[in-house]
Amino acid sequence: MGSTKAEVEVSYDVSNEFFRLWLDERMNYTCAVYESWDQPLEAAQLNKLKILSDFAKVTPEKRILDIGCGWGACVEYLSTTRKVKEAVGITLSSAMADEVNARKIPNVTVVANDFRTWEPAEKFDGLISICMMDHLCSPEEARQGKAIDIYRQFFKKCWEITTPGSWFGLQTILRNRTPRRGKDLEDIFWVTHNIFPGGLNPRLEDIIQAVNPYWEVVTCHTRREHYGKTTGEWQRRLRLNEKTIRSKWGDKLFEDYDRYLGTCVTAFEKHYSSLAQYELRRID
Ligand SMILES: C[S@@+](CC[C@H](N)C(=O)[O-])C[C@H]1O[C@@H](n2cnc3c(N)ncnc32)[C@H](O)[C@@H]1O
Repeated sequence: MGSTKAEVEVSYDVSNEFFRLWLDERMNYTCAVYESWDQPLEAAQLNKLKILSDFAKVTPEKRILDIGCGWGACVEYLSTTRKVKEAVGITLSSAMADEVNARKIPNVTVVANDFRTWEPAEKFDGLISICMMDHLCSPEEARQGKAIDIYRQFFKKCWEITTPGSWFGLQTILRNRTPRRGKDLEDIFWVTHNIFPGGLNPRLEDIIQAVNPYWEVVTCHTRREHYGKTTGEWQRRLRLNEKTIRSKWGDKLFEDYDRYLGTCVTAFEKHYSSLAQYELRRID
């Protein structure tokens, strides 16, 4: 069934304060898009939110849903910069939802619920989802050949909760080449099972197949190097805070996250992983 609530809590409920030490100031926990390689992470994260909001055709009269909203960077951007009528976020993590709701951002609500079973009272005029799909299919389900059906269920649900004419700005991390080197294979296996239990990065071809018959892929842009650069920057910031992290949360947490982020840098460099952004149009 992909990641359960308890598994998502392993990934995101370590401590909000811990993540604040090494993510950007708005706590985007996904790939940024760099206009130039010397651009600061903060600006590159805003570029990412602009691209996906443009893909979702966000305008002020719309109600937009962010599926897997994390610590609310996107819903905050939708409210304060794009001035939408309403931005709703959904996350499986209660700690994340509480954190965003406590900020009382105008026209923003965050729901702590499982998107797969959630029934919104009203339909949305557009969707954004940034690296949530990697929680939908477990490694076991992928081995049983269920990935495309699971992703298709997700796209069907997205269709059902939107109004005709809706657009969807989607971002997914991707699983590309399989490592041939023992150490790389071992590290990726370790990250999959220890940092993001219950989930698996999708394959690009699975997503492209699964959108049918609900959404049309108008644009698909891969950004492998951008996620390599983002995870490298997260690791640099984590290491700058090594002393604080070791003393507040113990040696194991620092060492686990240093290994995880180092594995990501290698995975993007060697094409084991990549990232894609999609502009999807609802098929009416
Ligand atoms: C990698 S984080 C990305 C957060 C945010 N989109 C960002 O860009 O920082 C993945 C998010 O997906 C959420 N998520 C995973 N499975 C979910 C589900 N079944 N229903 C709702 N949210 C889910 C997690 O709670 C988390 O907020």
